[in-house]
Amino acid sequence: MRGKPLYGYAAVAVVGLTLMLVLSFVGVNQKDARLALEGGEGGQPAQETVDTTDPMALGEQTYKTTCIGCHGGNFDGPMGNLQGLADRHTKEDIVNIILQGGGTDYPGMPAGLVDAEKAAAIAEYLLEATK
Ligand code: HEC
Repeated sequence: MRGKPLYGYAAVAVVGLTLMLVLSFVGVNQKDARLALEGGEGGQPAQETVDTTDPMALGEQTYKTTCIGCHGGNFDGPMGNLQGLADRHTKEDIVNIILQGGGTDYPGMPAGLVDAEKAAAIAEYLLEATK
C-alpha cells in the first residue's frame, strides 16, 4: 500500500506542469501575433518611405494618393482615360493640365491638387507609365 497515494500527487504535478508549459507557449505565440499586427517590436507601424529626390518615385507616390481615385490604377478611369498620354501631350502640357485643372477642354479635372514640383514629377511618371 505504501507509495500508492503518491501516484495521485504525481499525476496532478504532471498535469500542472504540462498546463504551465502549454499556457506559456500560447502566451508567446499571442505576443508574436500582436507584434506582427503592430508591424514591429517597437509597436511602430511599418512605413513606406518615398525618395522625394527621385521624380519618378515622387510622381508615382503622388499619383497614387491624389489622382488614382479618378484616373485609376491602370490609368483608364473611371474618369479621364490617361492611357497613351505621350501621344497627345508634352510634359509641359501635362503639367499645365494638372495645375490648371478643369476648363473647357477638361471639365471635371480639379485645379491645384498638387504644387508645381509634384506636378512636374507626376507628368514625368505619367509619360512613362501610360505608354
Ligand atoms: C475628381 C476627379 C479627378 C481627379 C482627382 C484628377 N483628375 Fe485628371 N481628369 C479628370 C477628368 C474628368 C478629366 C477630363 C478627361 C477628358 O476630358 O477626357 C481629367 C483629365 C486629365 C488629364 C488630361 C488627359 C488627356 O487625355 O488629355 C490629365 C493629364 C490628368 N487629368 C491628370 C491628373 C493628375 C496628374 C491628377 C492628380 C494630381 C488628376 N488628374 C486628378 C478628373 C480628375
